[in-house]
Amino acid sequence: MAVLTFLWEHCSNYRFFSFIKVVIVVPSLYLLIRAVYRIFLHPLRAFPGPKLRAISHIPHAIAGTKGRAAFDVRDLHARYGEVVRIAPDLLSFMTPSFWQDIHGHAAAKKFPKYGYFKARGDAQPLLTADEKDYPRQRAALMQGFSERAIAGQESTLKRHIDLFMKRLEENSERIDMSQWFQWLTFDLIGEFALSNHPWVAILVRWFRAVSFATNANEFGMLAPVLMLFTDIKDLMGIKIHQENAAAAVKKRLEMEDDPNRNDIWSYILRRKHENPLSLGEMEINAAALLIAATSPVADTLSGAIYFLSRNPKLTLSSTSKMPYLHAVMNETMRCYTPTPGGGRRQAPPGGATVSGHYVPGGTVVAVYQLPAFTLPNNFALPDCYLPERWLPIDHPDSPKATLTDEQEVFQPFSVGPKACIGKGYAYAEIKLILARVVWHFDFELLDNGFAVEKQRAFLFRERPPLNVKLSVRQH
Ligand code: HEM
Ligand SMILES: *[C@@H]1O[C@H](CO)[C@@H](O)[C@H](O)[C@H]1NC(C)=O
Repeated sequence: MAVLTFLWEHCSNYRFFSFIKVVIVVPSLYLLIRAVYRIFLHPLRAFPGPKLRAISHIPHAIAGTKGRAAFDVRDLHARYGEVVRIAPDLLSFMTPSFWQDIHGHAAAKKFPKYGYFKARGDAQPLLTADEKDYPRQRAALMQGFSERAIAGQESTLKRHIDLFMKRLEENSERIDMSQWFQWLTFDLIGEFALSNHPWVAILVRWFRAVSFATNANEFGMLAPVLMLFTDIKDLMGIKIHQENAAAAVKKRLEMEDDPNRNDIWSYILRRKHENPLSLGEMEINAAALLIAATSPVADTLSGAIYFLSRNPKLTLSSTSKMPYLHAVMNETMRCYTPTPGGGRRQAPPGGATVSGHYVPGGTVVAVYQLPAFTLPNNFALPDCYLPERWLPIDHPDSPKATLTDEQEVFQPFSVGPKACIGKGYAYAEIKLILARVVWHFDFELLDNGFAVEKQRAFLFRERPPLNVKLSVRQH
Protein backbone atom coordinates (compact mmCIF):
# COMPACT_ATOMS: atom_id res chain seq x y z
CA MET A 1 0.00 0.00 0.00
CA ALA A 2 2.92 2.35 0.71
CA VAL A 3 3.95 2.05 -2.91
CA LEU A 4 0.49 3.08 -4.00
CA THR A 5 0.49 6.15 -1.75
CA PHE A 6 3.91 7.11 -3.08
CA LEU A 7 2.76 6.85 -6.65
CA TRP A 8 -0.38 8.73 -5.85
CA GLU A 9 1.48 11.66 -4.29
CA HIS A 10 4.38 11.98 -6.71
CA CYS A 11 2.75 11.36 -9.98
CA SER A 12 -0.44 13.28 -9.74
CA ASN A 13 0.80 16.18 -11.86
CA TYR A 14 1.15 14.19 -14.99
CA ARG A 15 -1.72 13.13 -17.12
CA PHE A 16 0.03 9.88 -18.00
CA PHE A 17 0.57 9.02 -14.40
CA SER A 18 -3.00 9.73 -13.52
CA PHE A 19 -3.87 7.05 -16.05
CA ILE A 20 -1.49 4.67 -14.29
CA LYS A 21 -3.09 5.67 -11.03
CA VAL A 22 -6.46 4.55 -12.24
CA VAL A 23 -5.05 1.32 -13.60
CA ILE A 24 -3.31 0.49 -10.32
CA VAL A 25 -5.50 1.97 -7.66
CA VAL A 26 -8.91 0.95 -8.87
CA PRO A 27 -8.13 -2.76 -9.18
CA SER A 28 -6.20 -2.70 -5.89
CA LEU A 29 -9.14 -1.17 -4.12
CA TYR A 30 -11.43 -3.69 -5.70
CA LEU A 31 -9.20 -6.57 -4.58
CA LEU A 32 -8.93 -5.14 -1.10
CA ILE A 33 -12.66 -4.71 -0.68
CA ARG A 34 -13.24 -8.17 -2.09
CA ALA A 35 -10.71 -9.65 0.34
CA VAL A 36 -12.42 -7.97 3.30
CA TYR A 37 -15.78 -9.19 2.04
CA ARG A 38 -14.56 -12.76 1.56
CA ILE A 39 -13.08 -12.98 5.04
CA PHE A 40 -15.71 -11.16 7.10
CA LEU A 41 -19.00 -11.18 5.21
CA HIS A 42 -18.97 -14.08 2.77
CA PRO A 43 -21.53 -16.85 3.45
CA LEU A 44 -18.63 -19.30 3.91
CA ARG A 45 -16.83 -17.08 6.45
CA ALA A 46 -17.50 -19.47 9.32
CA PHE A 47 -15.78 -22.44 7.65
CA PRO A 48 -12.20 -22.99 8.84
CA GLY A 49 -9.19 -22.55 6.57
CA PRO A 50 -6.27 -20.19 5.96
CA LYS A 51 -7.19 -16.54 5.33
CA LEU A 52 -5.21 -16.44 2.11
CA ARG A 53 -7.30 -19.26 0.70
CA ALA A 54 -10.50 -17.50 1.74
CA ILE A 55 -9.34 -14.42 -0.19
CA SER A 56 -8.06 -15.92 -3.37
CA HIS A 57 -8.17 -18.94 -5.59
CA ILE A 58 -4.49 -18.48 -6.45
CA PRO A 59 -2.93 -20.80 -3.80
CA HIS A 60 -5.15 -23.71 -4.84
CA ALA A 61 -4.52 -23.06 -8.53
CA ILE A 62 -0.76 -22.89 -8.04
CA ALA A 63 -0.80 -26.13 -6.07
CA GLY A 64 -2.81 -27.60 -8.95
CA THR A 65 -0.33 -26.60 -11.61
CA LYS A 66 2.46 -28.10 -9.48
CA GLY A 67 0.59 -31.38 -9.19
CA ARG A 68 0.32 -30.93 -5.40
CA ALA A 69 -3.30 -29.79 -4.92
CA ALA A 70 -4.53 -32.95 -3.19
CA PHE A 71 -1.44 -33.10 -0.95
CA ASP A 72 -1.93 -29.51 0.15
CA VAL A 73 -5.60 -30.18 0.82
CA ARG A 74 -4.52 -33.11 2.99
CA ASP A 75 -2.27 -30.83 5.04
CA LEU A 76 -5.16 -28.38 5.41
CA HIS A 77 -7.54 -31.08 6.63
CA ALA A 78 -4.91 -32.28 9.08
CA ARG A 79 -4.81 -28.75 10.49
CA TYR A 80 -8.38 -27.52 10.18
CA GLY A 81 -10.52 -30.65 10.45
CA GLU A 82 -13.12 -32.45 8.39
CA VAL A 83 -14.37 -29.47 6.36
CA VAL A 84 -12.01 -26.83 4.99
CA ARG A 85 -12.54 -23.75 2.85
CA ILE A 86 -9.75 -24.40 0.37
CA ALA A 87 -10.64 -21.50 -1.98
CA PRO A 88 -13.11 -18.59 -1.68
CA ASP A 89 -16.15 -20.58 -2.89
CA LEU A 90 -14.80 -24.10 -2.51
CA LEU A 91 -15.23 -26.47 0.44
CA SER A 92 -13.43 -29.77 0.79
CA PHE A 93 -15.05 -32.50 2.92
CA MET A 94 -13.50 -35.71 4.20
CA THR A 95 -16.58 -37.11 5.96
CA PRO A 96 -18.02 -40.54 5.09
CA SER A 97 -21.57 -39.16 4.69
CA PHE A 98 -20.36 -36.70 2.05
CA TRP A 99 -20.68 -39.29 -0.69
CA GLN A 100 -24.39 -39.92 -0.28
CA ASP A 101 -25.18 -36.28 0.53
CA ILE A 102 -23.67 -35.05 -2.74
CA HIS A 103 -23.32 -37.93 -5.16
CA GLY A 104 -26.01 -40.37 -3.99
CA HIS A 105 -29.07 -41.08 -6.13
CA ALA A 106 -31.30 -38.64 -4.27
CA ALA A 107 -28.74 -35.84 -4.16
CA ALA A 108 -27.01 -36.07 -7.54
CA LYS A 109 -29.77 -34.20 -9.40
CA LYS A 110 -29.50 -31.23 -7.03
CA PHE A 111 -25.71 -30.99 -7.21
CA PRO A 112 -24.55 -30.45 -10.81
CA LYS A 113 -20.92 -30.92 -11.82
CA TYR A 114 -18.88 -27.77 -11.61
CA GLY A 115 -15.83 -26.53 -13.50
CA TYR A 116 -15.15 -29.57 -15.69
CA PHE A 117 -12.94 -28.52 -18.57
CA LYS A 118 -14.32 -29.32 -22.01
CA ALA A 119 -11.44 -30.43 -24.19
CA ARG A 120 -13.58 -30.34 -27.33
CA GLY A 121 -16.11 -27.67 -28.20
CA ASP A 122 -18.67 -29.35 -30.43
CA ALA A 123 -19.17 -32.74 -28.74
CA GLN A 124 -18.79 -33.92 -25.15
CA PRO A 125 -17.79 -37.25 -23.63
CA LEU A 126 -19.92 -38.75 -20.87
CA LEU A 127 -17.90 -37.04 -18.13
CA THR A 128 -18.70 -33.51 -19.35
CA ALA A 129 -22.01 -34.13 -21.17
CA ASP A 130 -24.76 -31.71 -20.10
CA GLU A 131 -27.97 -32.85 -18.40
CA LYS A 132 -29.75 -33.13 -21.77
CA ASP A 133 -27.24 -35.56 -23.33
CA TYR A 134 -26.00 -37.34 -20.23
CA PRO A 135 -28.73 -40.01 -19.79
CA ARG A 136 -28.59 -41.05 -23.46
CA GLN A 137 -24.81 -41.30 -23.42
CA ARG A 138 -24.69 -43.15 -20.12
CA ALA A 139 -27.29 -45.67 -21.39
CA ALA A 140 -25.40 -46.18 -24.67
CA LEU A 141 -22.08 -46.80 -22.94
CA MET A 142 -23.53 -48.88 -20.08
CA GLN A 143 -24.20 -51.81 -22.41
CA GLY A 144 -20.50 -52.36 -22.87
CA PHE A 145 -19.96 -52.30 -19.09
CA SER A 146 -22.64 -54.72 -17.94
CA GLU A 147 -21.52 -57.80 -16.01
CA ARG A 148 -22.29 -59.93 -19.05
CA ALA A 149 -20.28 -57.67 -21.32
CA ILE A 150 -17.31 -57.81 -18.96
CA ALA A 151 -17.53 -61.61 -18.73
CA GLY A 152 -17.61 -61.70 -22.52
CA GLN A 153 -14.26 -59.95 -22.62
CA GLU A 154 -12.38 -62.48 -20.57
CA SER A 155 -10.77 -64.25 -23.53
CA THR A 156 -9.59 -60.93 -24.99
CA LEU A 157 -8.13 -59.92 -21.65
CA LYS A 158 -6.44 -63.28 -21.37
CA ARG A 159 -4.90 -63.04 -24.82
CA HIS A 160 -3.35 -59.67 -24.03
CA ILE A 161 -2.21 -60.71 -20.59
CA ASP A 162 -0.56 -63.88 -21.97
CA LEU A 163 1.47 -61.77 -24.35
CA PHE A 164 2.25 -59.31 -21.57
CA MET A 165 3.56 -62.10 -19.32
CA LYS A 166 5.81 -63.33 -22.09
CA ARG A 167 7.25 -59.86 -22.60
CA LEU A 168 7.89 -59.52 -18.87
CA GLU A 169 9.86 -62.75 -18.87
CA GLU A 170 11.95 -61.57 -21.81
CA ASN A 171 12.76 -58.30 -20.04
CA SER A 172 12.93 -59.55 -16.50
CA GLU A 173 16.42 -58.32 -15.52
CA ARG A 174 15.31 -54.71 -15.33
CA ILE A 175 11.84 -53.62 -16.29
CA ASP A 176 9.87 -50.44 -15.75
CA MET A 177 6.58 -51.95 -14.62
CA SER A 178 4.86 -48.57 -14.56
CA GLN A 179 5.46 -48.18 -18.28
CA TRP A 180 4.48 -51.75 -19.11
CA PHE A 181 1.24 -51.52 -17.14
CA GLN A 182 0.42 -48.35 -19.05
CA TRP A 183 0.96 -50.13 -22.37
CA LEU A 184 -1.06 -53.15 -21.30
CA THR A 185 -4.07 -51.21 -20.01
CA PHE A 186 -4.02 -49.03 -23.11
CA ASP A 187 -4.03 -52.10 -25.33
CA LEU A 188 -6.89 -53.63 -23.37
CA ILE A 189 -9.22 -50.66 -23.73
CA GLY A 190 -7.90 -49.67 -27.15
CA GLU A 191 -8.65 -53.01 -28.79
CA PHE A 192 -10.12 -51.04 -31.63
CA ALA A 193 -6.84 -49.36 -32.36
CA LEU A 194 -4.15 -51.61 -31.07
CA SER A 195 -1.09 -50.29 -29.54
CA ASN A 196 0.72 -47.36 -30.86
CA HIS A 197 3.19 -46.77 -28.12
CA PRO A 198 4.26 -43.21 -28.95
CA TRP A 199 0.58 -42.42 -28.54
CA VAL A 200 0.54 -43.81 -25.00
CA ALA A 201 3.27 -41.35 -24.02
CA ILE A 202 0.92 -38.49 -24.90
CA LEU A 203 -1.69 -39.43 -22.31
CA VAL A 204 0.13 -37.73 -19.46
CA ARG A 205 0.35 -34.55 -21.53
CA TRP A 206 -3.39 -34.68 -22.09
CA PHE A 207 -4.26 -34.79 -18.43
CA ARG A 208 -1.62 -32.26 -17.41
CA ALA A 209 -3.02 -29.79 -19.95
CA VAL A 210 -6.61 -30.49 -18.95
CA SER A 211 -5.67 -30.02 -15.30
CA PHE A 212 -3.95 -26.72 -16.11
CA ALA A 213 -6.94 -25.47 -18.10
CA THR A 214 -9.32 -26.44 -15.30
CA ASN A 215 -7.30 -24.29 -12.89
CA ALA A 216 -6.98 -21.42 -15.36
CA ASN A 217 -10.75 -21.39 -15.89
CA GLU A 218 -11.22 -20.33 -12.27
CA PHE A 219 -9.90 -16.91 -13.28
CA GLY A 220 -12.64 -16.13 -15.79
CA MET A 221 -11.53 -13.51 -18.28
CA LEU A 222 -7.88 -14.02 -17.39
CA ALA A 223 -8.01 -17.69 -18.37
CA PRO A 224 -6.82 -17.23 -21.99
CA VAL A 225 -3.86 -15.18 -20.73
CA LEU A 226 -2.98 -17.85 -18.15
CA MET A 227 -3.15 -20.50 -20.82
CA LEU A 228 -0.07 -18.85 -22.37
CA PHE A 229 1.86 -20.36 -19.46
CA THR A 230 0.94 -23.95 -20.26
CA ASP A 231 3.56 -26.18 -21.72
CA ILE A 232 2.76 -25.97 -25.43
CA LYS A 233 3.68 -29.64 -25.83
CA ASP A 234 1.02 -30.51 -23.27
CA LEU A 235 -1.55 -28.50 -25.22
CA MET A 236 -0.53 -30.23 -28.44
CA GLY A 237 -1.00 -33.47 -26.52
CA ILE A 238 -4.73 -32.74 -26.24
CA LYS A 239 -4.94 -32.22 -29.98
CA ILE A 240 -2.85 -35.23 -31.01
CA HIS A 241 -4.58 -37.58 -28.60
CA GLN A 242 -8.02 -36.54 -29.78
CA GLU A 243 -7.04 -36.79 -33.45
CA ASN A 244 -5.58 -40.28 -32.92
CA ALA A 245 -8.75 -41.38 -31.13
CA ALA A 246 -10.94 -39.98 -33.92
CA ALA A 247 -8.85 -41.78 -36.54
CA ALA A 248 -9.12 -45.04 -34.60
CA VAL A 249 -12.90 -44.70 -34.38
CA LYS A 250 -13.07 -44.07 -38.10
CA LYS A 251 -11.01 -47.19 -38.80
CA ARG A 252 -13.18 -49.23 -36.48
CA LEU A 253 -16.38 -47.97 -38.13
CA GLU A 254 -15.07 -49.15 -41.48
CA MET A 255 -14.31 -52.66 -40.20
CA GLU A 256 -16.65 -55.60 -40.66
CA ASP A 257 -18.43 -56.47 -37.43
CA ASP A 258 -16.92 -59.56 -35.88
CA PRO A 259 -19.55 -61.26 -33.70
CA ASN A 260 -16.77 -62.77 -31.57
CA ARG A 261 -15.45 -59.40 -30.73
CA ASN A 262 -17.12 -58.15 -27.60
CA ASP A 263 -15.20 -55.16 -26.41
CA ILE A 264 -16.86 -51.97 -25.24
CA TRP A 265 -16.97 -50.54 -28.76
CA SER A 266 -18.76 -53.43 -30.37
CA TYR A 267 -21.87 -52.67 -28.30
CA ILE A 268 -22.03 -49.12 -29.56
CA LEU A 269 -20.97 -49.84 -33.11
CA ARG A 270 -23.45 -52.65 -33.63
CA ARG A 271 -26.19 -50.11 -33.10
CA LYS A 272 -24.54 -47.40 -35.14
CA HIS A 273 -27.60 -47.06 -37.43
CA GLU A 274 -29.74 -46.12 -34.44
CA ASN A 275 -27.24 -43.36 -33.64
CA PRO A 276 -26.95 -43.94 -29.89
CA LEU A 277 -24.00 -41.56 -30.06
CA SER A 278 -23.13 -39.01 -32.75
CA LEU A 279 -19.83 -39.44 -34.57
CA GLY A 280 -18.33 -36.55 -32.59
CA GLU A 281 -19.49 -38.13 -29.34
CA MET A 282 -17.96 -41.48 -30.30
CA GLU A 283 -14.66 -39.81 -31.09
CA ILE A 284 -14.47 -37.82 -27.90
CA ASN A 285 -15.70 -40.71 -25.76
CA ALA A 286 -12.98 -42.86 -27.29
CA ALA A 287 -10.41 -40.22 -26.36
CA ALA A 288 -11.83 -39.97 -22.83
CA LEU A 289 -12.05 -43.73 -22.29
CA LEU A 290 -8.49 -44.25 -23.46
CA ILE A 291 -7.42 -41.98 -20.60
CA ALA A 292 -9.98 -42.97 -17.97
CA ALA A 293 -9.41 -46.68 -18.45
CA THR A 294 -5.64 -46.54 -18.71
CA SER A 295 -4.14 -44.18 -16.17
CA PRO A 296 -6.00 -45.10 -12.96
CA VAL A 297 -5.73 -48.83 -13.66
CA ALA A 298 -2.01 -48.62 -14.39
CA ASP A 299 -1.65 -46.47 -11.25
CA THR A 300 -3.29 -49.16 -9.13
CA LEU A 301 -1.25 -51.98 -10.66
CA SER A 302 2.01 -50.07 -10.28
CA GLY A 303 1.13 -49.07 -6.74
CA ALA A 304 0.36 -52.68 -5.83
CA ILE A 305 3.71 -53.93 -7.14
CA TYR A 306 5.51 -51.09 -5.34
CA PHE A 307 3.85 -51.72 -1.96
CA LEU A 308 4.10 -55.50 -2.24
CA SER A 309 7.81 -55.26 -3.05
CA ARG A 310 8.35 -53.18 0.04
CA ASN A 311 6.38 -55.58 2.22
CA PRO A 312 7.98 -58.91 1.33
CA LYS A 313 5.91 -60.89 3.82
CA LEU A 314 2.89 -60.11 1.63
CA THR A 315 4.34 -61.45 -1.60
CA LEU A 316 3.33 -64.94 -0.58
CA SER A 317 1.29 -66.75 -3.12
CA SER A 318 -1.66 -66.04 -0.83
CA THR A 319 -1.77 -62.53 -2.26
CA SER A 320 -2.95 -63.88 -5.56
CA LYS A 321 -5.89 -65.61 -3.92
CA MET A 322 -9.22 -64.35 -2.63
CA PRO A 323 -9.95 -62.62 -0.34
CA TYR A 324 -6.38 -61.27 -0.07
CA LEU A 325 -6.35 -60.11 -3.66
CA HIS A 326 -9.37 -57.89 -3.07
CA ALA A 327 -7.82 -56.57 0.09
CA VAL A 328 -4.61 -55.73 -1.79
CA MET A 329 -6.54 -53.86 -4.48
CA ASN A 330 -8.46 -51.80 -1.93
CA GLU A 331 -5.45 -51.07 0.24
CA THR A 332 -3.46 -49.99 -2.81
CA MET A 333 -6.20 -47.60 -3.91
CA ARG A 334 -6.45 -46.30 -0.34
CA CYS A 335 -2.71 -45.59 0.03
CA TYR A 336 -2.20 -44.58 -3.59
CA THR A 337 -5.53 -43.19 -4.78
CA PRO A 338 -5.50 -43.08 -8.57
CA THR A 339 -7.83 -40.04 -8.51
CA PRO A 340 -6.48 -38.04 -5.55
CA GLY A 341 -8.65 -35.00 -6.25
CA GLY A 342 -12.39 -34.87 -6.35
CA GLY A 343 -15.06 -34.13 -8.89
CA ARG A 344 -16.50 -30.76 -7.94
CA ARG A 345 -20.22 -30.21 -7.48
CA GLN A 346 -22.23 -27.05 -6.91
CA ALA A 347 -24.85 -26.65 -4.18
CA PRO A 348 -28.41 -25.84 -5.36
CA PRO A 349 -29.63 -22.21 -5.15
CA GLY A 350 -31.45 -22.76 -1.85
CA GLY A 351 -28.42 -24.34 -0.20
CA ALA A 352 -28.20 -27.84 1.25
CA THR A 353 -26.98 -29.79 4.24
CA VAL A 354 -23.81 -31.80 3.68
CA SER A 355 -22.53 -34.05 6.45
CA GLY A 356 -24.45 -31.95 8.95
CA HIS A 357 -23.06 -28.62 7.71
CA TYR A 358 -25.33 -26.07 6.06
CA VAL A 359 -23.81 -25.15 2.70
CA PRO A 360 -25.16 -21.99 1.02
CA GLY A 361 -26.42 -22.08 -2.57
CA GLY A 362 -23.73 -21.79 -5.24
CA THR A 363 -20.95 -23.14 -3.02
CA VAL A 364 -18.66 -25.59 -4.75
CA VAL A 365 -18.04 -28.78 -2.80
CA ALA A 366 -15.60 -31.62 -3.32
CA VAL A 367 -14.17 -34.61 -1.57
CA TYR A 368 -10.46 -35.01 -2.12
CA GLN A 369 -9.93 -38.74 -2.00
CA LEU A 370 -6.30 -38.49 -0.92
CA PRO A 371 -6.96 -36.77 2.43
CA ALA A 372 -10.19 -38.71 2.97
CA PHE A 373 -8.38 -42.04 2.61
CA THR A 374 -5.09 -41.22 4.32
CA LEU A 375 -5.82 -39.17 7.43
CA PRO A 376 -6.25 -40.79 10.85
CA ASN A 377 -9.80 -39.34 11.16
CA ASN A 378 -10.95 -42.14 8.86
CA PHE A 379 -8.28 -44.86 9.03
CA ALA A 380 -6.18 -46.17 11.89
CA LEU A 381 -2.45 -46.49 11.07
CA PRO A 382 -3.14 -44.53 7.88
CA ASP A 383 0.45 -44.66 6.59
CA CYS A 384 0.76 -48.42 6.92
CA TYR A 385 0.11 -50.53 3.89
CA LEU A 386 -2.10 -53.07 5.60
CA PRO A 387 -4.28 -55.10 3.22
CA GLU A 388 -5.48 -57.19 6.17
CA ARG A 389 -7.67 -54.28 7.28
CA TRP A 390 -10.00 -55.19 4.38
CA LEU A 391 -10.36 -58.85 5.34
CA PRO A 392 -13.67 -59.96 6.88
CA ILE A 393 -13.55 -59.34 10.65
CA ASP A 394 -13.86 -63.06 11.38
CA HIS A 395 -10.76 -63.79 9.28
CA PRO A 396 -7.82 -64.90 11.50
CA ASP A 397 -5.56 -62.19 10.02
CA SER A 398 -8.03 -59.35 10.55
CA PRO A 399 -6.25 -56.75 12.73
CA LYS A 400 -7.92 -55.35 15.86
CA ALA A 401 -6.32 -51.93 15.47
CA THR A 402 -8.24 -51.08 12.32
CA LEU A 403 -11.73 -52.07 13.46
CA THR A 404 -12.56 -48.39 13.80
CA ASP A 405 -11.78 -47.64 10.14
CA GLU A 406 -14.49 -45.65 8.37
CA GLN A 407 -14.58 -48.04 5.44
CA GLU A 408 -17.56 -46.31 3.80
CA VAL A 409 -15.46 -43.24 3.11
CA PHE A 410 -13.36 -45.37 0.77
CA GLN A 411 -15.10 -44.80 -2.57
CA PRO A 412 -12.34 -44.61 -5.17
CA PHE A 413 -14.92 -44.85 -7.96
CA SER A 414 -17.32 -42.33 -6.41
CA VAL A 415 -20.98 -43.33 -5.83
CA GLY A 416 -24.41 -42.69 -7.31
CA PRO A 417 -25.67 -42.27 -10.87
CA LYS A 418 -22.52 -40.53 -12.13
CA ALA A 419 -20.01 -42.83 -10.47
CA CYS A 420 -17.31 -44.47 -12.53
CA ILE A 421 -18.91 -46.49 -15.31
CA GLY A 422 -15.84 -48.73 -15.45
CA LYS A 423 -15.75 -49.87 -11.81
CA GLY A 424 -16.64 -53.51 -12.56
CA TYR A 425 -14.32 -53.58 -15.52
CA ALA A 426 -11.49 -52.06 -13.50
CA TYR A 427 -11.81 -54.55 -10.61
CA ALA A 428 -11.99 -57.47 -13.07
CA GLU A 429 -9.00 -56.28 -15.04
CA ILE A 430 -6.82 -55.41 -12.05
CA LYS A 431 -7.66 -58.69 -10.34
CA LEU A 432 -6.75 -60.74 -13.39
CA ILE A 433 -3.47 -58.95 -14.11
CA LEU A 434 -2.31 -58.74 -10.52
CA ALA A 435 -3.07 -62.37 -9.78
CA ARG A 436 -1.10 -63.50 -12.82
CA VAL A 437 1.91 -61.28 -12.11
CA VAL A 438 2.10 -62.04 -8.40
CA TRP A 439 1.59 -65.75 -8.90
CA HIS A 440 4.20 -66.04 -11.62
CA PHE A 441 6.99 -63.72 -10.45
CA ASP A 442 8.98 -62.71 -7.45
CA PHE A 443 9.90 -59.07 -7.78
CA GLU A 444 12.56 -56.88 -6.33
CA LEU A 445 12.61 -53.07 -6.44
CA LEU A 446 15.82 -51.86 -8.10
CA ASP A 447 15.62 -48.28 -6.81
CA ASN A 448 13.26 -46.03 -4.91
CA GLY A 449 12.51 -43.70 -7.84
CA PHE A 450 8.82 -44.55 -7.48
CA ALA A 451 8.57 -43.21 -3.90
CA VAL A 452 4.87 -42.40 -3.87
CA GLU A 453 5.07 -39.50 -1.43
CA LYS A 454 7.25 -37.53 -3.84
CA GLN A 455 5.03 -37.99 -6.88
CA ARG A 456 2.84 -35.36 -8.48
CA ALA A 457 -0.78 -35.80 -9.50
CA PHE A 458 -2.84 -34.09 -12.17
CA LEU A 459 -6.29 -35.67 -12.18
CA PHE A 460 -4.34 -38.96 -12.04
CA ARG A 461 -0.84 -39.78 -10.85
CA GLU A 462 2.19 -38.77 -12.83
CA ARG A 463 4.13 -41.97 -12.34
CA PRO A 464 7.92 -42.12 -12.45
CA PRO A 465 9.60 -45.36 -13.56
CA LEU A 466 9.02 -48.39 -11.34
CA ASN A 467 12.18 -50.37 -12.00
CA VAL A 468 11.90 -53.96 -10.90
CA LYS A 469 13.81 -57.18 -11.31
CA LEU A 470 11.56 -60.16 -11.91
CA SER A 471 12.31 -63.81 -11.32
CA VAL A 472 10.03 -66.66 -12.19
CA ARG A 473 8.79 -68.36 -9.05
CA GLN A 474 9.23 -72.00 -8.32
CA HIS A 475 5.89 -73.27 -7.09
C1 HEM B 1 -8.79 -47.96 -10.63
C2 HEM B 1 -9.47 -47.57 -11.67
C3 HEM B 1 -10.42 -46.40 -11.73
C4 HEM B 1 -10.71 -45.42 -10.82
C5 HEM B 1 -10.10 -45.21 -9.44
C6 HEM B 1 -11.73 -44.58 -11.42
C7 HEM B 1 -12.31 -43.48 -10.79
C8 HEM B 1 -13.34 -42.74 -11.32
C9 HEM B 1 -14.02 -41.66 -10.62
C10 HEM B 1 -13.72 -41.20 -9.21
C11 HEM B 1 -14.97 -41.17 -11.46
C12 HEM B 1 -15.94 -40.01 -11.18
C13 HEM B 1 -15.39 -38.75 -11.75
C14 HEM B 1 -16.18 -37.52 -11.40
O1 HEM B 1 -17.29 -37.58 -10.87
O2 HEM B 1 -15.64 -36.44 -11.66
C15 HEM B 1 -14.87 -41.90 -12.70
C16 HEM B 1 -15.64 -41.66 -13.81
C17 HEM B 1 -15.52 -42.35 -15.00
N1 HEM B 1 -14.71 -43.44 -15.24
FE1 HEM B 1 -13.45 -44.30 -13.92
N2 HEM B 1 -12.04 -45.05 -12.66
C18 HEM B 1 -11.27 -46.17 -12.89
C19 HEM B 1 -11.28 -46.97 -14.02
C20 HEM B 1 -12.08 -46.76 -15.12
C21 HEM B 1 -12.15 -47.64 -16.26
C22 HEM B 1 -11.41 -48.96 -16.40
C23 HEM B 1 -13.00 -47.05 -17.15
C24 HEM B 1 -13.45 -47.53 -18.51
C25 HEM B 1 -13.22 -48.70 -19.01
C26 HEM B 1 -13.46 -45.80 -16.57
C27 HEM B 1 -14.32 -44.90 -17.17
C28 HEM B 1 -14.91 -43.83 -16.54
C29 HEM B 1 -15.88 -42.96 -17.18
C30 HEM B 1 -16.36 -43.04 -18.62
C31 HEM B 1 -16.26 -42.02 -16.21
C32 HEM B 1 -17.28 -40.90 -16.37
C33 HEM B 1 -18.59 -41.38 -15.79
C34 HEM B 1 -19.70 -40.38 -15.84
O3 HEM B 1 -19.43 -39.17 -15.81
O4 HEM B 1 -20.84 -40.83 -15.90
N3 HEM B 1 -12.88 -45.66 -15.33
N4 HEM B 1 -13.88 -42.86 -12.58
C1 LIG C 1 -13.24 -52.71 -1.28
O1 LIG C 1 -13.85 -51.43 -1.26
C2 LIG C 1 -15.17 -51.40 -1.72
C3 LIG C 1 -15.62 -49.96 -1.67
O2 LIG C 1 -15.50 -49.36 -2.89
C4 LIG C 1 -16.06 -52.27 -0.86
O3 LIG C 1 -17.38 -52.28 -1.37
C5 LIG C 1 -15.50 -53.67 -0.83
O4 LIG C 1 -16.23 -54.45 0.05
C6 LIG C 1 -14.05 -53.64 -0.41
N1 LIG C 1 -13.47 -54.98 -0.52
C7 LIG C 1 -13.00 -55.62 0.53
C8 LIG C 1 -12.40 -56.94 0.27
O5 LIG C 1 -13.07 -55.14 1.62
